[in-house]
Amino acid sequence: RRCVSDKYCVGAACSPLSVRSGDRYIPTRAGSNWSINFHYANENCHSPSQNHKAKDASTESGKGQRSPFSLLRSPRKPARKISKIPFKVLDAPELQDDFYLNLVDWSAGNLLSVGLGACVYLWSACTSQVTRLCDLSVDGDSVTSVCWNERGSLVAVGTHKGYVQIWDAAGGRKLSSLEGHSARVGALAWNGEQLSSGSRDRVILQRDVRSPPGAERRLQGHRQEVCGLKWSPDHQHLASGGNDNKLLVWNSSSLLPMQQYSDHLAAVKAIAWSPHQHGLLASGGGTADRCLRFWNTLTGQPLQSTDTGSQVCNLAWSKHANELVSTHGYSQNQILVWKYPSLTQVAKLTGHSYRVLYLAVSPDGEAIVTGAGDETLRFWNVFSKTRCTKESKSVLNLFTRIR
Ligand SMILES: *[C@@H]1O[C@H](CO)[C@@H](O)[C@H](O)[C@H]1NC(C)=O
Ligand SMILES: *[C@@H]1O[C@H](CO)[C@@H](O)[C@H](O)[C@H]1NC(C)=O
Repeated sequence: RRCVSDKYCVGAACSPLSVRSGDRYIPTRAGSNWSINFHYANENCHSPSQNHKAKDASTESGKGQRSPFSLLRSPRKPARKISKIPFKVLDAPELQDDFYLNLVDWSAGNLLSVGLGACVYLWSACTSQVTRLCDLSVDGDSVTSVCWNERGSLVAVGTHKGYVQIWDAAGGRKLSSLEGHSARVGALAWNGEQLSSGSRDRVILQRDVRSPPGAERRLQGHRQEVCGLKWSPDHQHLASGGNDNKLLVWNSSSLLPMQQYSDHLAAVKAIAWSPHQHGLLASGGGTADRCLRFWNTLTGQPLQSTDTGSQVCNLAWSKHANELVSTHGYSQNQILVWKYPSLTQVAKLTGHSYRVLYLAVSPDGEAIVTGAGDETLRFWNVFSKTRCTKESKSVLNLFTRIR
């Protein structure tokens, strides 16, 4: 498989990550007559299944939500409006429709890294400039995951053959290629100078990118492919999800998991630590499960859970408010915004015609980008900064002054 070459392209016609012309908004939906009868061990099975329950249209923002008392209750705070139309759509040819991969990430420096077939492209959210970082086709390999380090200077690239490459983004240079996995690397997570990688070989490897090769920790706990990996905001704990339906939490002093949660009934790819509450972890399950679950990892206790009605592919918290966004596959391919802890739906966004497998949040925390096998990337404004603590502080100041 060859990468789309810049050389032979004229204009935006065949270059990857160009603004999609024409149909900016394609409200397509997969068949709505599916039923789930079985436990599908592979999240990529296109099973014509799912008898979905009454459509939850009443939770969509708009008419369904209005109660006769809403005006009295909140005269000066109308419900926040989230645009149902993406503010930008990019073509992403060869973006794979594979649940177990993680092919989109957004850096602190406002660069998107996207794995398309054998290549990683960088797209600047400031200038819309596209550069090709690497092409693995010369090695007969392809990209299965991408992940920026916290500063946004390095991109880790996981490959189908099991390599983990470290690239200097500004220089466009490969710094190293780490061996150690015997199968594709679908999940990556940085923790300072350490990089964790999760593979189809069921192992999580943890390496310091500064130390010589060979110095690594092998975390063995999953019985199937590892597809989700996230470090906690305090850098103390790693959460991992696998196709064995397990959510594991690891600390830095043991090679055995510190906690193991077995409540999901399908693969766990969607994992997100709350930036607001220490130890609060959210996870989502695949097609046979469809649930969002919340955990207090300080005590090991399960908290809330809710059935979303669709395969959960990805999750992210808002930095600014106690809200989170989830992206979904079978059967509605939707994007949902939730309030926490009430788990009321703030918005439901549709438009992708395939499962919304990829999700990343902008560095300012206001926008998200979603990617799907429909070979588009869609940018949405879902989280606003406007209701941050500054506002309530100024109100408070006003009150103190009046007093
Ligand atoms: C839905 O399923 C029923 C029963 O299997 C079938 O008779 C009907 O034609 C299906 N409808 C659609 C729109 O596929
Ligand atoms: C780390 O996890 C191991 C395994 O569960 C546990 O025995 C140990 O006490 C934990 N260490 C810390 C510092 O939490």
